[in-house]
Amino acid sequence: MQQHTLVDQAIISRHSVRAFKSTPVATQTVKDILSVASRAPSGNNIQPWNVYVVTGIKRDELIQKVCAAQSQIFAQPECAAGHQETFKYYPEQWTSPFIERRRENGWGLYGLLGIQKGEHKKMQHQHLRNYQLFDAPVGLFFTLNQTLETGSKMDISMMIQNVMIAARGRGLDTCPQAAWNPFHHIIFDVLNIPSDQELVCAIALGYADPAQPVNQLQTPRVPVEDFAVFYE
Ligand SMILES: Cc1cc2nc3c(=O)[nH]c(=O)nc-3n(C[C@H](O)[C@H](O)[C@H](O)COP(=O)(O)O)c2cc1C
Repeated sequence: MQQHTLVDQAIISRHSVRAFKSTPVATQTVKDILSVASRAPSGNNIQPWNVYVVTGIKRDELIQKVCAAQSQIFAQPECAAGHQETFKYYPEQWTSPFIERRRENGWGLYGLLGIQKGEHKKMQHQHLRNYQLFDAPVGLFFTLNQTLETGSKMDISMMIQNVMIAARGRGLDTCPQAAWNPFHHIIFDVLNIPSDQELVCAIALGYADPAQPVNQLQTPRVPVEDFAVFYE
């Protein structure tokens, strides 16, 4: 196969997997993925990324504590004030065309899960699946030093995409997750992450369970002519 075809295949076959098998991932495989991913470019080659790899008992402890915190928020929404992300990932006011795309994505997902409008309990259950890493055996938590600027979020994002593509090259799947960000205090506490760090996002990593309908979500993309302008 031609080089570009292989690379395109790895990129195109990446999608967000939200149901994983319990099959473990070898630590060496995770190291290989991170080693390849660290070839990502970064401004001045500062390589600002840190990654905390969570499996086994630590994974279970983290899941238990964050699920408890999120469940408490469901019961008492005012508790959310104690769990704030350190940077805004989404705008407070959504505008077109983003709001329509966001809705389409949400309803596409809920449709596959058989969740109808107004079924809040089922929606909460699906939201909680984030904090079980969708059953993935590996959680990756990406942090930056707080002294760094917005540009480093570009650098780490490129590295994160590399992780997801390198995972595809090894038959593994991923789901990037910003859902963990509000719970950075709990995560930092459980993993002993220095307080000068900032959580950027997490990735669930493992082997996809193709039998689960949730993994059949096919997300659309706008065509090139709708987002690119060519000057010739
Ligand atoms: C930085 C980032 C954070 C995300 N956070 C979540 C998340 O917390 N939970 C989730 O189910 N999906 C999350 N997603 C997945 C997006 O919903 C998904 O990428 C998008 O719908 C496109 O679908 P695809 O990844 O299957 O191509 C996130 C994606 C990105 C890039």
